[in-house]
Amino acid sequence: MSFIIRKANLDDLPEISKLNLELFNIQHQFDPTANLNWSMSPDGQEYFKTRISAEDSFTEVVENENKNIVGYIMCTILKRQLYRIDAKYAELESIYVRSEYQGAKLGSQLTNNFINWCRENKVNYISLLVDPKNEEAIKFYRKLGFSNYDLVMQLKLE
Ligand SMILES: CC(C)(COP(=O)(O)OP(=O)(O)OC[C@H]1O[C@@H](n2cnc3c(N)ncnc32)[C@H](O)[C@@H]1OP(=O)(O)O)[C@@H](O)C(=O)NCCC(=O)NCCS
Repeated sequence: MSFIIRKANLDDLPEISKLNLELFNIQHQFDPTANLNWSMSPDGQEYFKTRISAEDSFTEVVENENKNIVGYIMCTILKRQLYRIDAKYAELESIYVRSEYQGAKLGSQLTNNFINWCRENKVNYISLLVDPKNEEAIKFYRKLGFSNYDLVMQLKLE
């Protein structure tokens, strides 16, 4: 099978939204606060459009031989939190490869493209959030060189 990885454009919005919803369905199994209405909502659509078009964002898609989009990555430069040192920060916000295409290094290629883009843009630190129960994704990120950073804790009140 051959694949093309390319920069996303606004025509990809419906497919990216669908893939994002598939990702949220996975995420929802780990975290019930993941909002399954987000991807198709006006706010979600605006957010995707910005990430696809803005100079400070990085969105790429994977196309299969039939020109169907089977994976994507969406990332952005972060506004520095004032309590952090003066450096350039970026976040890998979401990445998803359809299950039948996983394991073919597509996720690695997408992430390495983003890392290269960060180097070109003089980014110093890349972070991402992943659910601690998503062990496969954690393994994937570790293979690419990511290591533990913040630990986010939560208390659910009745
Ligand atoms: C995580 C994800 C993007 C990885 O994409 P991929 O194209 O399947 O990954 P690659 O083929 O580039 O895998 C690279 C390495 O990551 C690890 N890895 C990837 N998928 C894995 C899996 N399902 N189980 C265990 N390890 C896995 C493997 O060690 C692999 O190395 P190897 O090929 O030497 O064995 C993809 O599996 C996915 O979309 N998962 C579901 C959504 C998700 O969890 N996204 C992250 C949310 S934070």
